[in-house]
Amino acid sequence: MAARRLPALLLVLTLTNPLAGCAPGPSPDLYQTFGGQPGLVALMDDYMDAMMRNPDLHPYFANANRTRIKAELASQFCALLGGPCAYTGMDMAMAHARYGIGDREFNALVQELQNVMDKRSIPFAAQNRLLAMLAPYRKDIVHVAPPPRTRPPLTIPPDAVVVPEGVPAERKTAPSRP
Ligand code: HEM
Repeated sequence: MAARRLPALLLVLTLTNPLAGCAPGPSPDLYQTFGGQPGLVALMDDYMDAMMRNPDLHPYFANANRTRIKAELASQFCALLGGPCAYTGMDMAMAHARYGIGDREFNALVQELQNVMDKRSIPFAAQNRLLAMLAPYRKDIVHVAPPPRTRPPLTIPPDAVVVPEGVPAERKTAPSRP
């Protein structure tokens, strides 16, 4: 439902705003709004399917242990939302460090999360509370690649080559190699 969706600009602001963490935090009610544990497990099934269909995300998950990721995501979201869980998976920086994830992939993943939350009729306010809680992870997950180390083009102006006086005219050009 497009009318309920967070506009793209607001989404970026939410996910990049350091104050986003000030949104109301976890609560058992919020966890129940997501359908408790069965709701989160079903959400993760839809989520992984959606990510596998997304060409920007597919390469990251095609060879990954998707069953484990879904289970860890469900327990992470459960703990974040205020459910009776403790997240025991990898720390976010460590889990994502080797993948070179950029803004494009991060935004695509958040967009797919919004799509599946819409599909499962999670109220818009609850969606935004979860998104605000995920916002601080962004800095641990996105690694902007450093600029390539390229040498500046070497340019030698024509008058930089000085032919010494006394060199015969025919030697002023390099001898041709056999
Ligand atoms: C707020 C955003 C994100 C959250 C909350 C998140 C959460 C997680 C969690 C909980 C795991 C499981 C860790 C474990 O196995 O112990 C995981 C793994 C993984 N995530 Fe993310 N993730 C996010 C963004 C992304 C993005 C943008 C990508 C790539 C497009 C990505 C790709 C992966 C991959 C490939 C793994 C498997 C790591 C491995 O086993 O080597 N994640 N993520």
